[in-house]
Amino acid sequence: MSHHFIPVNAPILDGNERRYLNECIDTGWVSSEGPFVKRFEDAFADKVERKYGVAVCNGSAALEVSVAALGIRRGDEVIMPTFTIISCAAAIVRVGAVPVLVDSDPVTWNMNVYDIEARITPRTIAIMAVHIYGLPVDMKPLMELADRYGLRVIEDAAEMHGQTYMGKPCGSFGDISTFSFYPNKHITTGEGGMLVCDDVALAERCRELRNLCFQSQNRFVHEELGWNYRMTNLQAALGVAQLERLNTHIERKREMGRRYTEMLADVFELQLPSSHQEYADNIYWVYGVVLNEDVQIEAREAMKQLGTLGIGTRPFFWPMHEQPVFKKMALFAGEKYPVAERLARRGFYLPSGLALTFDEQERVADSLRKILQ
Ligand SMILES: Cc1ncc(COP(=O)(O)O)c(C=O)c1O
Repeated sequence: MSHHFIPVNAPILDGNERRYLNECIDTGWVSSEGPFVKRFEDAFADKVERKYGVAVCNGSAALEVSVAALGIRRGDEVIMPTFTIISCAAAIVRVGAVPVLVDSDPVTWNMNVYDIEARITPRTIAIMAVHIYGLPVDMKPLMELADRYGLRVIEDAAEMHGQTYMGKPCGSFGDISTFSFYPNKHITTGEGGMLVCDDVALAERCRELRNLCFQSQNRFVHEELGWNYRMTNLQAALGVAQLERLNTHIERKREMGRRYTEMLADVFELQLPSSHQEYADNIYWVYGVVLNEDVQIEAREAMKQLGTLGIGTRPFFWPMHEQPVFKKMALFAGEKYPVAERLARRGFYLPSGLALTFDEQERVADSLRKILQ
Protein backbone atom coordinates (compact mmCIF):
# COMPACT_ATOMS: atom_id res chain seq x y z
CA MET A 1 0.00 0.00 0.00
CA SER A 2 1.44 3.37 -0.95
CA HIS A 3 1.67 6.14 1.60
CA HIS A 4 2.30 9.13 -0.58
CA PHE A 5 0.53 12.35 0.33
CA ILE A 6 -2.81 12.64 -1.42
CA PRO A 7 -3.23 16.29 -2.41
CA VAL A 8 -6.62 17.93 -2.09
CA ASN A 9 -6.44 18.74 -5.77
CA ALA A 10 -4.37 17.99 -8.85
CA PRO A 11 -5.51 18.95 -12.35
CA ILE A 12 -5.30 16.90 -15.54
CA LEU A 13 -3.64 18.49 -18.57
CA ASP A 14 -3.65 15.62 -21.02
CA GLY A 15 -5.27 17.09 -24.13
CA ASN A 16 -4.02 19.72 -26.57
CA GLU A 17 -2.54 21.97 -23.88
CA ARG A 18 1.08 21.46 -24.91
CA ARG A 19 0.32 21.83 -28.59
CA TYR A 20 -1.56 25.12 -28.15
CA LEU A 21 1.07 26.50 -25.77
CA ASN A 22 3.75 25.67 -28.33
CA GLU A 23 1.70 27.56 -30.88
CA CYS A 24 1.85 30.64 -28.63
CA ILE A 25 5.59 30.30 -28.27
CA ASP A 26 6.20 29.60 -31.95
CA THR A 27 4.14 32.58 -33.04
CA GLY A 28 5.31 34.90 -30.27
CA TRP A 29 1.71 35.58 -29.23
CA VAL A 30 1.85 35.52 -25.46
CA SER A 31 -0.02 38.69 -24.45
CA SER A 32 -3.77 39.22 -24.22
CA GLU A 33 -3.76 40.35 -27.86
CA GLY A 34 -3.19 36.78 -29.06
CA PRO A 35 -5.83 34.81 -30.98
CA PHE A 36 -6.54 32.16 -28.32
CA VAL A 37 -8.22 34.75 -26.11
CA LYS A 38 -11.11 35.39 -28.49
CA ARG A 39 -11.24 31.72 -29.40
CA PHE A 40 -11.58 30.79 -25.72
CA GLU A 41 -14.15 33.52 -25.08
CA ASP A 42 -16.32 32.44 -28.00
CA ALA A 43 -16.06 28.71 -27.29
CA PHE A 44 -16.74 29.17 -23.58
CA ALA A 45 -19.70 31.51 -24.11
CA ASP A 46 -21.10 29.00 -26.56
CA LYS A 47 -20.73 26.19 -24.06
CA VAL A 48 -22.83 28.02 -21.47
CA GLU A 49 -25.29 29.28 -24.09
CA ARG A 50 -24.38 32.95 -23.84
CA LYS A 51 -23.70 35.44 -26.61
CA TYR A 52 -20.58 37.04 -25.19
CA GLY A 53 -17.57 35.97 -23.17
CA VAL A 54 -15.01 38.33 -21.65
CA ALA A 55 -11.89 36.59 -20.35
CA VAL A 56 -10.14 38.03 -17.31
CA CYS A 57 -7.21 37.11 -15.08
CA ASN A 58 -9.20 35.30 -12.34
CA GLY A 59 -12.68 34.70 -10.96
CA SER A 60 -12.38 37.39 -8.29
CA ALA A 61 -11.59 39.96 -10.98
CA ALA A 62 -14.62 38.72 -12.92
CA LEU A 63 -16.82 39.49 -9.91
CA GLU A 64 -15.32 42.96 -9.49
CA VAL A 65 -15.86 43.77 -13.14
CA SER A 66 -19.43 42.42 -13.03
CA VAL A 67 -20.37 44.63 -10.07
CA ALA A 68 -18.82 47.69 -11.69
CA ALA A 69 -20.29 46.94 -15.13
CA LEU A 70 -23.80 46.75 -13.70
CA GLY A 71 -23.29 50.22 -12.22
CA ILE A 72 -23.64 49.05 -8.62
CA ARG A 73 -22.39 51.82 -6.37
CA ARG A 74 -22.24 53.42 -2.95
CA GLY A 75 -25.36 52.84 -0.89
CA ASP A 76 -26.77 50.05 -3.08
CA GLU A 77 -27.53 46.74 -1.44
CA VAL A 78 -26.73 43.36 -2.94
CA ILE A 79 -28.16 40.18 -1.47
CA MET A 80 -25.72 37.27 -1.33
CA PRO A 81 -24.96 34.13 0.68
CA THR A 82 -22.89 34.47 3.84
CA PHE A 83 -21.37 31.05 3.09
CA THR A 84 -19.07 31.77 0.15
CA ILE A 85 -15.60 33.00 -0.77
CA ILE A 86 -14.49 36.50 0.22
CA SER A 87 -14.30 37.57 -3.45
CA CYS A 88 -18.11 37.88 -3.62
CA ALA A 89 -18.45 40.30 -0.71
CA ALA A 90 -15.19 42.09 -1.58
CA ALA A 91 -16.46 42.99 -5.04
CA ILE A 92 -19.55 44.58 -3.50
CA VAL A 93 -17.76 46.36 -0.65
CA ARG A 94 -15.08 47.78 -2.94
CA VAL A 95 -17.61 49.91 -4.84
CA GLY A 96 -19.08 51.15 -1.55
CA ALA A 97 -22.20 48.98 -1.81
CA VAL A 98 -23.49 46.84 1.04
CA PRO A 99 -23.62 43.03 1.01
CA VAL A 100 -26.85 41.82 2.60
CA LEU A 101 -26.54 38.22 3.70
CA VAL A 102 -28.71 35.12 3.73
CA ASP A 103 -28.04 31.79 5.40
CA SER A 104 -27.44 28.45 3.67
CA ASP A 105 -29.75 25.56 3.03
CA PRO A 106 -28.61 22.73 5.34
CA VAL A 107 -28.80 20.07 2.61
CA THR A 108 -27.46 21.77 -0.52
CA TRP A 109 -25.24 24.29 1.37
CA ASN A 110 -26.29 26.92 -1.18
CA MET A 111 -27.97 30.19 -0.25
CA ASN A 112 -31.47 29.61 1.05
CA VAL A 113 -33.46 31.35 -1.67
CA TYR A 114 -36.55 31.48 0.54
CA ASP A 115 -34.70 33.87 2.87
CA ILE A 116 -34.08 36.42 0.13
CA GLU A 117 -37.41 38.22 -0.06
CA ALA A 118 -37.35 39.32 3.59
CA ARG A 119 -33.97 40.96 2.95
CA ILE A 120 -35.16 43.12 0.04
CA THR A 121 -35.32 46.87 0.79
CA PRO A 122 -35.80 49.96 -1.41
CA ARG A 123 -31.99 50.02 -1.75
CA THR A 124 -31.65 46.47 -3.02
CA ILE A 125 -30.31 46.53 -6.54
CA ALA A 126 -29.10 43.00 -7.18
CA ILE A 127 -28.83 39.41 -6.01
CA MET A 128 -25.51 37.62 -6.23
CA ALA A 129 -26.28 33.92 -6.64
CA VAL A 130 -23.28 31.74 -5.87
CA HIS A 131 -23.31 28.03 -6.73
CA ILE A 132 -21.41 26.21 -4.00
CA TYR A 133 -19.40 22.97 -4.25
CA GLY A 134 -21.51 20.93 -6.67
CA LEU A 135 -25.21 21.70 -6.69
CA PRO A 136 -26.63 24.87 -8.23
CA VAL A 137 -28.57 27.48 -6.31
CA ASP A 138 -32.32 26.94 -6.70
CA MET A 139 -32.46 29.50 -9.53
CA LYS A 140 -36.17 29.40 -10.43
CA PRO A 141 -37.53 31.04 -7.27
CA LEU A 142 -34.51 33.37 -7.22
CA MET A 143 -35.09 34.55 -10.80
CA GLU A 144 -38.81 34.99 -10.11
CA LEU A 145 -38.00 37.25 -7.17
CA ALA A 146 -35.46 39.22 -9.20
CA ASP A 147 -38.08 39.67 -11.90
CA ARG A 148 -40.83 40.70 -9.49
CA TYR A 149 -38.65 43.29 -7.72
CA GLY A 150 -36.70 44.45 -10.78
CA LEU A 151 -33.34 43.30 -9.41
CA ARG A 152 -30.22 42.50 -11.40
CA VAL A 153 -28.67 39.07 -10.99
CA ILE A 154 -24.96 38.32 -10.83
CA GLU A 155 -24.47 34.59 -11.08
CA ASP A 156 -21.17 33.37 -9.67
CA ALA A 157 -20.64 30.06 -11.44
CA ALA A 158 -16.92 29.91 -10.57
CA GLU A 159 -17.23 26.31 -9.43
CA MET A 160 -19.90 25.16 -11.81
CA HIS A 161 -18.58 24.70 -15.35
CA GLY A 162 -20.63 22.02 -17.04
CA GLN A 163 -23.38 21.96 -14.40
CA THR A 164 -27.00 22.63 -15.34
CA TYR A 165 -30.10 23.81 -13.51
CA MET A 166 -33.27 22.21 -14.89
CA GLY A 167 -31.28 21.41 -18.02
CA LYS A 168 -30.04 24.96 -18.57
CA PRO A 169 -26.30 25.66 -18.12
CA CYS A 170 -25.14 27.31 -14.92
CA GLY A 171 -23.78 30.63 -16.09
CA SER A 172 -26.76 31.21 -18.39
CA PHE A 173 -28.98 32.82 -15.74
CA GLY A 174 -27.37 36.05 -14.56
CA ASP A 175 -27.46 39.47 -16.21
CA ILE A 176 -23.77 38.71 -15.92
CA SER A 177 -22.38 35.34 -14.89
CA THR A 178 -18.80 34.69 -13.84
CA PHE A 179 -16.39 31.76 -13.80
CA SER A 180 -12.96 30.91 -12.39
CA PHE A 181 -10.29 28.72 -14.00
CA TYR A 182 -8.08 28.21 -10.97
CA PRO A 183 -6.42 24.74 -11.13
CA ASN A 184 -8.94 23.15 -8.79
CA LYS A 185 -11.76 23.97 -11.24
CA HIS A 186 -13.23 21.59 -13.82
CA ILE A 187 -11.15 23.34 -16.43
CA THR A 188 -8.13 25.46 -15.67
CA THR A 189 -5.97 28.15 -17.21
CA GLY A 190 -3.57 28.28 -14.24
CA GLU A 191 -5.21 31.52 -13.13
CA GLY A 192 -8.14 32.88 -15.06
CA GLY A 193 -11.75 33.93 -15.14
CA MET A 194 -14.59 34.75 -17.51
CA LEU A 195 -17.66 36.96 -17.58
CA VAL A 196 -20.53 35.92 -19.83
CA CYS A 197 -23.68 37.78 -20.80
CA ASP A 198 -26.13 38.32 -23.68
CA ASP A 199 -26.14 42.12 -23.82
CA VAL A 200 -23.66 43.59 -26.27
CA ALA A 201 -23.37 46.90 -24.40
CA LEU A 202 -22.73 45.12 -21.11
CA ALA A 203 -20.07 42.91 -22.71
CA GLU A 204 -18.41 46.00 -24.18
CA ARG A 205 -18.51 47.65 -20.76
CA CYS A 206 -16.78 44.62 -19.21
CA ARG A 207 -14.11 44.78 -21.92
CA GLU A 208 -13.44 48.45 -21.16
CA LEU A 209 -13.23 47.86 -17.42
CA ARG A 210 -10.90 44.90 -17.92
CA ASN A 211 -8.59 47.02 -20.02
CA LEU A 212 -7.94 50.13 -17.88
CA CYS A 213 -10.74 52.04 -19.67
CA PHE A 214 -8.36 52.97 -22.45
CA GLN A 215 -10.22 55.06 -25.02
CA SER A 216 -10.23 54.00 -28.65
CA GLN A 217 -9.48 57.50 -29.97
CA ASN A 218 -7.31 58.94 -27.26
CA ARG A 219 -5.77 55.83 -25.75
CA PHE A 220 -3.99 57.31 -22.75
CA VAL A 221 -6.63 59.87 -21.84
CA HIS A 222 -9.07 58.41 -19.31
CA GLU A 223 -12.63 59.36 -18.47
CA GLU A 224 -12.83 56.55 -15.91
CA LEU A 225 -10.74 54.06 -13.98
CA GLY A 226 -10.67 50.42 -14.96
CA TRP A 227 -8.27 47.59 -14.17
CA ASN A 228 -5.73 45.56 -16.02
CA TYR A 229 -7.52 42.25 -15.57
CA ARG A 230 -6.64 40.86 -18.99
CA MET A 231 -6.07 37.16 -19.67
CA THR A 232 -2.93 36.21 -21.60
CA ASN A 233 -2.86 34.18 -24.80
CA LEU A 234 -0.93 31.48 -22.90
CA GLN A 235 -3.74 31.11 -20.38
CA ALA A 236 -6.39 31.14 -23.09
CA ALA A 237 -4.47 28.45 -25.02
CA LEU A 238 -4.73 26.24 -21.96
CA GLY A 239 -8.38 27.17 -21.67
CA VAL A 240 -9.22 26.14 -25.24
CA ALA A 241 -7.51 22.77 -24.72
CA GLN A 242 -9.22 22.24 -21.36
CA LEU A 243 -12.62 23.17 -22.69
CA GLU A 244 -12.29 20.38 -25.26
CA ARG A 245 -12.04 18.03 -22.28
CA LEU A 246 -14.80 19.51 -20.12
CA ASN A 247 -17.31 16.72 -20.66
CA THR A 248 -14.74 14.07 -19.77
CA HIS A 249 -13.74 16.04 -16.69
CA ILE A 250 -17.34 16.28 -15.56
CA GLU A 251 -17.80 12.52 -16.00
CA ARG A 252 -14.69 11.91 -13.90
CA LYS A 253 -15.94 14.22 -11.16
CA ARG A 254 -19.34 12.58 -11.07
CA GLU A 255 -17.72 9.16 -10.92
CA MET A 256 -15.48 10.36 -8.09
CA GLY A 257 -18.52 11.66 -6.20
CA ARG A 258 -20.46 8.43 -6.68
CA ARG A 259 -17.51 6.40 -5.42
CA TYR A 260 -16.99 8.49 -2.30
CA THR A 261 -20.70 8.31 -1.54
CA GLU A 262 -20.59 4.51 -1.80
CA MET A 263 -17.40 4.19 0.19
CA LEU A 264 -18.63 6.46 2.97
CA ALA A 265 -22.23 5.24 3.14
CA ASP A 266 -21.56 3.46 6.45
CA VAL A 267 -19.78 6.39 8.10
CA PHE A 268 -22.77 7.71 10.01
CA GLU A 269 -20.66 10.40 11.64
CA LEU A 270 -20.71 12.35 8.38
CA GLN A 271 -23.26 14.30 6.40
CA LEU A 272 -22.36 13.61 2.76
CA PRO A 273 -23.18 15.91 -0.16
CA SER A 274 -26.69 15.53 -1.55
CA SER A 275 -26.27 13.61 -4.78
CA HIS A 276 -29.42 14.90 -6.41
CA GLN A 277 -32.00 17.67 -6.22
CA GLU A 278 -35.06 17.90 -8.46
CA TYR A 279 -33.23 20.50 -10.57
CA ALA A 280 -29.74 18.96 -10.83
CA ASP A 281 -27.41 16.06 -10.14
CA ASN A 282 -24.37 16.94 -8.06
CA ILE A 283 -21.27 17.68 -10.12
CA TYR A 284 -18.91 17.36 -7.11
CA TRP A 285 -16.62 20.26 -7.82
CA VAL A 286 -15.34 19.32 -4.39
CA TYR A 287 -16.53 16.47 -2.20
CA GLY A 288 -17.51 18.12 1.08
CA VAL A 289 -18.38 16.34 4.31
CA VAL A 290 -19.88 17.73 7.52
CA LEU A 291 -19.27 16.19 10.94
CA ASN A 292 -22.48 15.21 12.69
CA GLU A 293 -23.46 16.65 16.07
CA ASP A 294 -22.28 13.60 18.00
CA VAL A 295 -18.71 13.81 16.69
CA GLN A 296 -16.58 15.24 19.49
CA ILE A 297 -13.98 16.98 17.34
CA GLU A 298 -14.38 19.99 15.05
CA ALA A 299 -13.45 19.97 11.35
CA ARG A 300 -10.14 21.63 12.10
CA GLU A 301 -9.03 18.72 14.31
CA ALA A 302 -10.32 16.08 11.86
CA MET A 303 -8.36 17.74 9.07
CA LYS A 304 -5.24 17.79 11.21
CA GLN A 305 -5.56 14.08 11.94
CA LEU A 306 -6.16 13.29 8.27
CA GLY A 307 -3.07 15.33 7.43
CA THR A 308 -0.94 13.09 9.63
CA LEU A 309 -2.31 10.12 7.65
CA GLY A 310 -1.20 11.78 4.41
CA ILE A 311 -4.60 13.07 3.31
CA GLY A 312 -4.92 16.65 2.05
CA THR A 313 -8.13 18.49 2.90
CA ARG A 314 -9.47 22.06 2.88
CA PRO A 315 -11.82 23.75 5.31
CA PHE A 316 -15.23 24.93 4.17
CA PHE A 317 -15.73 28.65 3.58
CA TRP A 318 -15.78 30.89 6.64
CA PRO A 319 -19.00 32.97 6.59
CA MET A 320 -18.88 36.62 5.59
CA HIS A 321 -20.59 37.81 8.79
CA GLU A 322 -17.75 36.29 10.85
CA GLN A 323 -14.90 37.82 8.85
CA PRO A 324 -12.61 40.05 10.93
CA VAL A 325 -12.07 42.33 7.93
CA PHE A 326 -15.80 43.10 7.75
CA LYS A 327 -16.12 43.44 11.52
CA LYS A 328 -13.53 46.21 11.31
CA MET A 329 -15.78 47.90 8.75
CA ALA A 330 -18.73 47.57 11.15
CA LEU A 331 -20.54 45.29 8.73
CA PHE A 332 -22.95 42.52 9.84
CA ALA A 333 -22.77 43.48 13.54
CA GLY A 334 -24.75 41.00 15.64
CA GLU A 335 -25.95 39.01 12.64
CA LYS A 336 -26.29 35.25 13.05
CA TYR A 337 -26.60 32.59 10.36
CA PRO A 338 -26.61 29.27 12.19
CA VAL A 339 -26.42 26.92 9.19
CA ALA A 340 -23.40 28.66 7.70
CA GLU A 341 -21.75 28.87 11.12
CA ARG A 342 -22.16 25.13 11.58
CA LEU A 343 -20.91 24.34 8.07
CA ALA A 344 -17.82 26.47 8.65
CA ARG A 345 -16.97 24.69 11.91
CA ARG A 346 -18.02 21.15 11.02
CA GLY A 347 -17.36 20.97 7.26
CA PHE A 348 -14.32 20.33 5.12
CA TYR A 349 -13.61 18.76 1.80
CA LEU A 350 -11.73 15.67 0.77
CA PRO A 351 -9.22 15.21 -2.05
CA SER A 352 -11.41 15.94 -5.08
CA GLY A 353 -9.06 16.67 -7.97
CA LEU A 354 -9.43 15.27 -11.45
CA ALA A 355 -6.23 13.23 -11.08
CA LEU A 356 -7.51 11.39 -7.97
CA THR A 357 -7.43 7.59 -8.34
CA PHE A 358 -9.75 4.88 -7.03
CA ASP A 359 -7.02 3.57 -4.70
CA GLU A 360 -6.46 7.03 -3.29
CA GLN A 361 -10.17 7.41 -2.66
CA GLU A 362 -10.17 4.12 -0.76
CA ARG A 363 -7.30 5.37 1.37
CA VAL A 364 -9.19 8.60 2.08
CA ALA A 365 -12.30 6.66 3.09
CA ASP A 366 -10.31 4.27 5.31
CA SER A 367 -8.52 7.16 6.97
CA LEU A 368 -11.81 8.92 7.67
CA ARG A 369 -13.16 5.75 9.24
CA LYS A 370 -10.04 5.43 11.33
CA ILE A 371 -10.27 8.91 12.82
CA LEU A 372 -14.05 8.85 13.39
CA GLN A 373 -14.96 5.36 14.52
C1 LIG B 1 -17.63 30.66 -5.65
C2 LIG B 1 -16.34 31.29 -6.05
N1 LIG B 1 -16.34 32.55 -6.52
C3 LIG B 1 -15.21 33.16 -6.88
C4 LIG B 1 -13.99 32.53 -6.80
C5 LIG B 1 -12.75 33.30 -7.13
O1 LIG B 1 -12.06 32.78 -8.21
P1 LIG B 1 -10.47 33.00 -8.34
O2 LIG B 1 -9.81 32.10 -7.35
O3 LIG B 1 -10.19 32.60 -9.75
O4 LIG B 1 -10.20 34.43 -8.08
C6 LIG B 1 -13.93 31.22 -6.33
C7 LIG B 1 -12.62 30.55 -6.26
O5 LIG B 1 -12.41 29.43 -6.04
C8 LIG B 1 -15.13 30.59 -5.93
O6 LIG B 1 -15.12 29.33 -5.43
